[in-house]
Amino acid sequence: MSIASEVEFRIAARVLRESTRGKAADSVLRSVLRETRLAPEQSRTVSELVFAYYRWHGWIEPKQGWEQQLREGIKLAKRFARSPEEFTDQELLAKALPAWVLEQIPESPQWARTLQAEPRLWLRARAGQGRAVAAELEEASIPMPNILPDTIEYLGTRDLFHTDAFKTGQFEIQDISSQWVGILCEPKPGETWWDACAGEGGKTLHLSALMGNKGLIWASDRAQWRLDKLKRRTGRAQVFNYRPALWDGGSKLPTKTTFHGVLVDAPCSGLGTWQRNPHARWTTELKDVLELKELQKQLLQNAAKAVKPGGKIVYSVCTLARAETEEVAVAFEASQPEFEPIEMAHPSGQKLKGRCWVQPWDLGGNGMFIAAWRRK
Ligand SMILES: C[S@@+](CC[C@H](N)C(=O)[O-])C[C@H]1O[C@@H](n2cnc3c(N)ncnc32)[C@H](O)[C@@H]1O
Repeated sequence: MSIASEVEFRIAARVLRESTRGKAADSVLRSVLRETRLAPEQSRTVSELVFAYYRWHGWIEPKQGWEQQLREGIKLAKRFARSPEEFTDQELLAKALPAWVLEQIPESPQWARTLQAEPRLWLRARAGQGRAVAAELEEASIPMPNILPDTIEYLGTRDLFHTDAFKTGQFEIQDISSQWVGILCEPKPGETWWDACAGEGGKTLHLSALMGNKGLIWASDRAQWRLDKLKRRTGRAQVFNYRPALWDGGSKLPTKTTFHGVLVDAPCSGLGTWQRNPHARWTTELKDVLELKELQKQLLQNAAKAVKPGGKIVYSVCTLARAETEEVAVAFEASQPEFEPIEMAHPSGQKLKGRCWVQPWDLGGNGMFIAAWRRK
């Protein structure tokens, strides 16, 4: 962690002032950094200050100026990095999380501890290119070569978006647990898939890579701007076997095609991303979780109509809240008796029937829940 200057404290304080429940700190940070045009080193320091503040928010005395609060945040982050044992499990559970969350997630000191550490940065190289890309980027490693040979942890500080390897589509930035979702989908070359909540295409690109670019993927979302971004990403990654479509999640599906596989990577509260996105800990509310559960149930019900006999449907969310995981899966099973749970592998190798919880410490990425069923 670098030593921050007065300018950097001032800019970080502005980000805190402008961030609200409706304006996420990471997007405020991006726009403030774009506007202020700091040197890359300074931008990194501002980001560190902002993220340390939200990560240590539960410890910081609020009745003091912003800059003082930022100083406290960075001090705590350094202390935790140096000697995590100085922080007790009880203290972490009480201060790292909002109290309501324990209604939704079993009390877990390990989770609270993980949330306080810096997140790791994960990349996915083109199929078979893991070693070559890691060597080109330097300061990069492949921690699980046997199960995830193209999954790279980047340990350096370069701006990856400006590397040749990124510009020529040699890798994507994709969280390792999200990569596990693609692995569990197991799409085969030549199949037809529907990525129903494709967003900007993180998983569409992975499905295509797993299919060796053969077959077809329908990629839908309700937001056209996200599909526009997806188009740019597919161009860079040289992925052409996809068809974009708008879908608002309603009963009218974007196509009459039926699929070998449907992925519903549903909008969610994002509790599983709280290590990477600490501002969300303090803005997400229980009512969001409960509202999202209803949307997730609806998306899954509607998308299921497009699964061929013998085909599968995969539900994934980057949250571990009970309402958005187990309760959605149970509701789906109760209303869709023609679907049966599929056996899946946990990253540890354990075989699971129909559901897989990837905890943040399993792979070192986001917390993810994945459920999968086959139409009889
Ligand atoms: C978790 S994100 C998808 C991330 C994406 N699959 C990826 O891997 O990059 C969920 C997506 O669902 C979309 N969405 C939200 N509400 C929706 C709805 N009612 N119908 C369809 N898509 C919706 C959002 O626009 C968002 O892009």
